[in-house]
Amino acid sequence: MKIAIGSDHGGFERKEAIIQHLKEKKYEVVDVGTHSKDSVDYPEFGHKAAEKVVSGECEFGILICGSGIGIGIAANKIKGIRCATVSEPYSAMLSRLHNNANMVSFGARIIGEDMSKAVVDAFLEGEYEGGRHDRRIQAIEK
Ligand code: RB5
Repeated sequence: MKIAIGSDHGGFERKEAIIQHLKEKKYEVVDVGTHSKDSVDYPEFGHKAAEKVVSGECEFGILICGSGIGIGIAANKIKGIRCATVSEPYSAMLSRLHNNANMVSFGARIIGEDMSKAVVDAFLEGEYEGGRHDRRIQAIEK
């Protein structure tokens, strides 16, 4: 499975840790940047990762900024993206089961590295339940 990942400067170091974690779990990773701690604007990286998901190149996307909020809002502006901003694994899992989220975002200034890995694992292991949730997802898309 191929995963897009992006961050701003606030999420850069956490992104590197999550890439390592994903590789250990045998995921393929497409890193859209940023590639240093120099200050950048998070919409660019939210949009770049989102495009990888809507194009079908990547199945899911992971976004990290200081809070997880700005980069998640930016990703949700791309049609077809359902990005959940979360701070713990239960919400990450529910975003897959009920909302068929295709991206997850979190804040490197909000949660630590171990919690970030638990969020990523719960998100990627969760399976959309379909059924009654389908019409709600369709309503969002409309
Ligand atoms: C950057 O300083 C910070 O504003 C950004 O990482 C993020 O928290 C925005 O939502």
